Amino acid sequence: MQITFLLNGETTQYSLSDASVTLLDWLREYRGLTGSKEACREGDCGACTVMLSDATGSRAINACITLMAQLHGKALRTVEGIGNSAAPHPVQQALIDQHGSQCGFCTPGIAVALAAAHLNGEHDHDAALAGNLCRCTGYAPIIRAAESAAAQPVPDCMHEDAKALAATALAQISSGGCGGADSPPAYLPENADDLAAWLLAQPSSTLVAGGTDLGLAVTKALKPLGEAVFLHRCADLQQVTTSADEIRIGAGVSIAQLLRAMAKPHPAFAALLKRFASPQIRAMATLGGNIANGSPIADAPPVLIALGARVHLRRGDVRRQVALEDFYLGYRKQDRTPGEFIEAVTIAARAPNLRAYKLSKRFDQDISTLCAAFNLSAKAGRISEARVAFGGMAAVPARARKLEAALIGQPLDDIAEGAVSLSLGEDFAPISDFRGSAAYRMQAAENLIIRYARDLAGEAVSVLEVAS
Ligand SMILES: Cc1cc2nc3c(=O)[nH]c(=O)nc-3n(C[C@H](O)[C@H](O)[C@H](O)COP(=O)(O)OP(=O)(O)OC[C@H]3O[C@@H](n4cnc5c(N)ncnc54)[C@H](O)[C@@H]3O)c2cc1C
Ligand code: FES
Ligand code: FES
Repeated sequence: MQITFLLNGETTQYSLSDASVTLLDWLREYRGLTGSKEACREGDCGACTVMLSDATGSRAINACITLMAQLHGKALRTVEGIGNSAAPHPVQQALIDQHGSQCGFCTPGIAVALAAAHLNGEHDHDAALAGNLCRCTGYAPIIRAAESAAAQPVPDCMHEDAKALAATALAQISSGGCGGADSPPAYLPENADDLAAWLLAQPSSTLVAGGTDLGLAVTKALKPLGEAVFLHRCADLQQVTTSADEIRIGAGVSIAQLLRAMAKPHPAFAALLKRFASPQIRAMATLGGNIANGSPIADAPPVLIALGARVHLRRGDVRRQVALEDFYLGYRKQDRTPGEFIEAVTIAARAPNLRAYKLSKRFDQDISTLCAAFNLSAKAGRISEARVAFGGMAAVPARARKLEAALIGQPLDDIAEGAVSLSLGEDFAPISDFRGSAAYRMQAAENLIIRYARDLAGEAVSVLEVAS
């Protein structure tokens, strides 16, 4: 299989014989582009940040957990391609002028993350840098550099990829179908029908969506992917459609795309997604992958469950749907047969009382210790329907059915007082792990009930709302 893409403006071909080769390894070891650094190798530090562009725009991503097949038809720009010593990119010059680099190991990744944000006209520099760790300079000079570069024009080279992609029709070039004469095959389907047919014939293939969980299996657990099918070219799985009652979200919708799509109908969901990992991870990670990975501490499932989500599954041409809370059968066990994949998720279009809270050790770029989502409806002022779901309290994301029952019938605008006596003791028996003890989880989860009640009453409950 031929993977064709633009690398710093040049059309580049790569013969894919092993689906597990990461972009960072290829750049550094085979291509000699060592500007992108290898540090954590798990998408956490941003030292390997590069910029990926396609018809939908440009975004910073982590090269260390991106697989070569994910580049097909796209344009890649590494730190070597955003500027050079004769004509540095404005953020590179500003990092020098503002003393934004000390040991310099993080600097190439920071320069590319800021260059991508600069190209997109993003001025929330903290948000742009949430996926970039700097240990020795400290962020103040780096933010000063971002601020001073903001008014500078975008260099021409940063606009070239979009033009070249359109001119070369690169995105339409065939990858040559299935690759792997001497190794496990890899396949890049163009739509959900192709994907369904492949998975029906090869049910043991690894389905790769954004690869932000699977990439770690390769780089950390050292488990090769084997036979792999990649979902990122299935544009029909990347649609968000809204009707009067529901929103349908394709499984291939990225978390970044979902964040934008939820801003209006479900701002509480969008606010939670802002804290999902980092811009680099959100650009690649998909909603389908978040659900199918089945982590009890994944961020999206509690909110989706609170929104009455139904998972739309497909095997060949056979489709069925299941409530998300019933999809999870046990720790990392799902109601999904071999060859079956998630095609979409549907959620309620309206939920004015939806709120979601994530507790983690760091504000940005951290997995939840606990995640809670509340969605109450009322008739004649009294709670008539309650959907409350937690992540991090059990082996799977789950509803708090006893709590829900206790809420039914209570006056909606006066739950703050009663909230202190509501308990989760009959719903959950959480475990202790390195993220939090069982006692902490229970206490914190019960505190979130009070937080929700106060939030509904209009009090400021987010750390971002508290001003000195
Ligand atoms: C640094 C870092 C930070 C992270 N932070 C967070 C965080 O804050 N919150 C959070 O919830 N998660 C976080 N994650 C985990 C991960 O990003 C998410 O779970 C993400 O949504 C996975 O999506 P993906 O498309 O990358 O999945 P992939 O890695 O491609 O796949 C994950 C699993 O799902 C399966 N799969 C994918 N799509 C489908 C489908 N359509 N049908 C059936 N099976 C499918 C794959 O076969 C695989 O088993 C983080 C990961 C990293 C590396
Ligand atoms: S090496 Fe740390 S994010 Fe890639
Ligand atoms: S300059 Fe040393 S880690 Fe950032």
